[in-house]
Amino acid sequence: MFKIFKFIKDFLLFFPLSVIFHPFAVLLNKGYYFNKLIFWIRKNKSQLLLNDFYKPVRDSSTRPVLYKFISDNFDLVNNEITYVEFGVFKGTTFKWWIANNLNQNSNFFGFDTFEGLPENWGFYKKGDMLSAIPEINDSRAIFIKGLFQDTLVNFIQENRDLFLLPRPKVIHLDADLYSSTLFALTQMYPYLNKGDFIIFDEFNVPLHEFKAYSEFVSSFNVKLKPIVALNNFYQTAFIVE
Ligand SMILES: C[S@@+](CC[C@H](N)C(=O)[O-])C[C@H]1O[C@@H](n2cnc3c(N)ncnc32)[C@H](O)[C@@H]1O
Repeated sequence: MFKIFKFIKDFLLFFPLSVIFHPFAVLLNKGYYFNKLIFWIRKNKSQLLLNDFYKPVRDSSTRPVLYKFISDNFDLVNNEITYVEFGVFKGTTFKWWIANNLNQNSNFFGFDTFEGLPENWGFYKKGDMLSAIPEINDSRAIFIKGLFQDTLVNFIQENRDLFLLPRPKVIHLDADLYSSTLFALTQMYPYLNKGDFIIFDEFNVPLHEFKAYSEFVSSFNVKLKPIVALNNFYQTAFIVE
C-alpha cells in the first residue's frame, strides 16, 4: 500500500498535472474551511452570552451592540484598557472604543496602511479602502501607518511595557485578510493574558479571518472562549481563558 502511495506521489510531483487539478484544489480548500466553520458554529453557539444566529439579513450597524455588550458586562467603561485595532480605515470602530472608555490612562493603538488593502480580498481590490489617518482629538490615541508586517514588531518592542501592563487588552481584528489577521494574532500572542478580548469583524469568512483563527488556535497554546456573535458570526468576540 505504502509503495502505491509513494508511486502516485512521486508521479504527481514529477509530472505537471497540477494545472489540471488546481481548480479542484481551490474549490476543495474553500469547501473544507466552510465546512469547518459550519461545524465550529454548531459546536460553539450554545455557549455564547449573546448571539443572533440565524438572521436572514446582514446588518453591520449592530456592531456597536457587540462592543457595548462587552464593555458593560466586563467592566471596561471606567477601567484602564489597552485597545489595539488592526485595520482602522476611517476609524469608525476606533472612535466608538475611545468614546466609550472613560479612563484617561488607557491606550488606543490603531494600525493600518492608510493606503488601502495590501491584497485583493473577495470583490475588493488591492488599494481599496484607502483613507487618511482619522483625526481624533484625544491624546490616548496613536495611529501607526504602514503594513502590520513592517510596523508591528518594532512598535511592540518600543512600547513593550504598555503591552505588559496587567490590564485588559481589547484586540480588534478588522483587516479582513487571512495574512494580516494571522500575522497580527501571532505577534500579539506573547502579550495575551487571561481576560483579554479578541474581536473578529469578519469571522465567518472561511478562507480569511476564520482560517487565521483556526490556524492560530491549533498552533499556539491559547484558549479562546467565544462570548458574543452577531450577524451570523461575522462579528465574533472571544475572551482569553
Ligand atoms: C475593513 S477596513 C477596517 C474598518 C474599520 N475597522 C472601521 O471601523 O471601519 C480594513 C482595513 O485593514 C487595512 N489592512 C489590511 N491588511 C493590512 C496590513 N497587513 N497592514 C496594514 N493595514 C492593513 C486596510 O488598509 C483597511 O483600511
